[in-house]
Amino acid sequence: MARIKISELLKNGATFLGQKIEVKGWVRAFRSKRFVQLNDGSCMANIQGVIDYDNFDEEQLKAISTGAAISIKGLLVESQGAGQVVELQVEAFEIIGAADPDAVQKTILQPKKHSLDLLREQAHLRFRTNTFGAIFRIRHAASFAIHQFFNERGFNYIHTPILTGSDAEGAGEMFRVSTLDPKNPPLDDDGNIDYGKDFFGKQVNLTVSGQLEAELAALGLGQVYTFGPTFRAENSNTSRHLAEFWMIEPEVAFNDLSDNMDLTEEFLQSVCQYILKNSEEDLNFLDNRYAQEQNQKPQNERSHLGLRESIEFVVNNQFKRLSYTEAIEVLQKSKAYKKKKFQFPVEWGIDLQSEHERYLVEKEFKCPVILCDYPADIKAFYMRQNDDGKTVAAMDVLFPGVGEIVGGSQREERLEILKAKCKDFDIEEDELWWYMDTRKFGSVPHSGFGMGFERLIMFLTGMSNIRDVIPFPRTPDNAEF
Ligand code: 4AD
Ligand code: MG
Repeated sequence: MARIKISELLKNGATFLGQKIEVKGWVRAFRSKRFVQLNDGSCMANIQGVIDYDNFDEEQLKAISTGAAISIKGLLVESQGAGQVVELQVEAFEIIGAADPDAVQKTILQPKKHSLDLLREQAHLRFRTNTFGAIFRIRHAASFAIHQFFNERGFNYIHTPILTGSDAEGAGEMFRVSTLDPKNPPLDDDGNIDYGKDFFGKQVNLTVSGQLEAELAALGLGQVYTFGPTFRAENSNTSRHLAEFWMIEPEVAFNDLSDNMDLTEEFLQSVCQYILKNSEEDLNFLDNRYAQEQNQKPQNERSHLGLRESIEFVVNNQFKRLSYTEAIEVLQKSKAYKKKKFQFPVEWGIDLQSEHERYLVEKEFKCPVILCDYPADIKAFYMRQNDDGKTVAAMDVLFPGVGEIVGGSQREERLEILKAKCKDFDIEEDELWWYMDTRKFGSVPHSGFGMGFERLIMFLTGMSNIRDVIPFPRTPDNAEF
């Protein structure tokens, strides 16, 4: 007898009706010694098995308890009860993995509402809940949609190194990787640790971004993207930062900043569209969850759109594009500014704070915003200098609820200017000889961006803490599992 997955049963129920089949999964609930709800992770829905208890002995039935893994075999029939279309008349069952009911009581497997904090503490079990089943199926669907988007447009997926000897990008604090004995490291003449004796013969870190290497690849392959883990050692314990997160970084030769904005917008819309179309059941569940959560909030903190509505909004509306300079003017003219509602100052040259970004997206424009042409001083050395001499061809995409979801730029392709920038930023040119080299041989304008994958998943699932959209979050003081 073939084992059928529940997603398939519910999709193609008619073809299995009247047939004997087997389903395997975990018991979500067992009512009246008769109705067992089984979930196998293939979709949100359970299959109901109907057990005629006269046919089985009491001891056997006892082993069917919440959390246990079982197999049920029998005839698939149209359901008599409400809530499901088909159900399985159980003729035989087998306990594959028992679950002690007393022990289950102490876990999140117990079928009742648990706090997200508790679910995080039991991250090894949270895959078995409706919420996290939905989140991680959507996470999968989004990563597939991303690969599909780039593949359809002829981009090459590039695997950039995770261990890196360069610290030049300056995107964040780095984690050092070393095989030296921490108790007794080799020292140089000045008494400093001699990394020349370390595994790679130099100091090596976990990468903060694959961009610099992606640029090298784009200057030969034309258009590439990365999709890999990146690491930042900042001590930022916020609901939007992880120490280990996944980033997607496309890089395109001959694209200027405006092309880059077009690509970002098309990319984000396309992935959102894919989720609306392909993750309907999971999205429905999360949409409800989101609505309930919003209802708990004070009126003035509620989002004016539901979860599905905000995703649809992104798909159907152009993003608002404006320069950093214009954004500062908008902020300075705002009521919030005049009433001194902003905690941080607003003036040309400042790094925008999350309160400013949220104001622009959620209050002023009520749509995704692309800010461009930032002051050179607050952005990275590799961003292309604009003709005004003050700003660079940078862009950030700001999303409702999430804030910055994408950061990107046109890159400085002119060797002399790049050299001057290295000097300004105190970057050893020699350390980046390979990066500089590409500006000597057929250098061309090129652009790219980085999207934080978890920020996207927060947006798509309506989860407000980034720790809930990655299976095992790494944050300061936390590397469990
Ligand atoms: O703005 P960032 O630092 O840009 C870069 O790393 C560039 N090299 C990208 C490029 O042009 N190729 O990071 C890009 C995005 C941010 O917009 C944000 O979505 C996400 O990565 N991000 C984080 N996500 C989770 N936790 C963190 N600590 C993050 N830091 C950045
Ligand atoms: Mg950024």
